[in-house]
Amino acid sequence: MNQEFNLSYQLISSEAQLHTADQQLVTAAKEALTRAYAPYSKFQVGAAVRLHNGQLIEGNNQENIAYPSGLCAERVALFYAGASFPDQPIEAICIAVKGKLIAAENYVSPCGSCRQVMLESESRQQQPIRVLLVQNDGSILILNSCRDLLPFGFMK
Ligand code: THU
Repeated sequence: MNQEFNLSYQLISSEAQLHTADQQLVTAAKEALTRAYAPYSKFQVGAAVRLHNGQLIEGNNQENIAYPSGLCAERVALFYAGASFPDQPIEAICIAVKGKLIAAENYVSPCGSCRQVMLESESRQQQPIRVLLVQNDGSILILNSCRDLLPFGFMK
């Protein structure tokens, strides 16, 4: 029997179209990437997470000379949120990048490992997390749930 997933997402041309809280989240992600430690890839990634109480948590990629020992921005932010505020649901996450790693015709979006962690952050709080992905041209791709980024995710 054929089955299908329906993925609906929004693509807005600029952050000016967002409401204030989401604009602040985008600003936080862009600021976070300026503090990335990415001397090897020279690709800076910033992530900002908004908790239910309005607090913003920032993360960025942290690389290491032993390459696999580094960690992506999304996981730095989500693990910090989980470590420090485990009872605060996450409302939204925004990701912004700087660097030439992603070809102009491709969307900026999280790696598979980060998607897996995003999915579990969402499933453990039993509330969807809105995802804002800042693209190289300034447009923003918006998904209503991390689930949309990983349809057949590994989960309980
Ligand atoms: N990176 C992230 O921070 N997030 C992702 O979703 C994908 C990749 C980082 C890891 C590494 O420091 C650099 O980007 C190049 O892969």
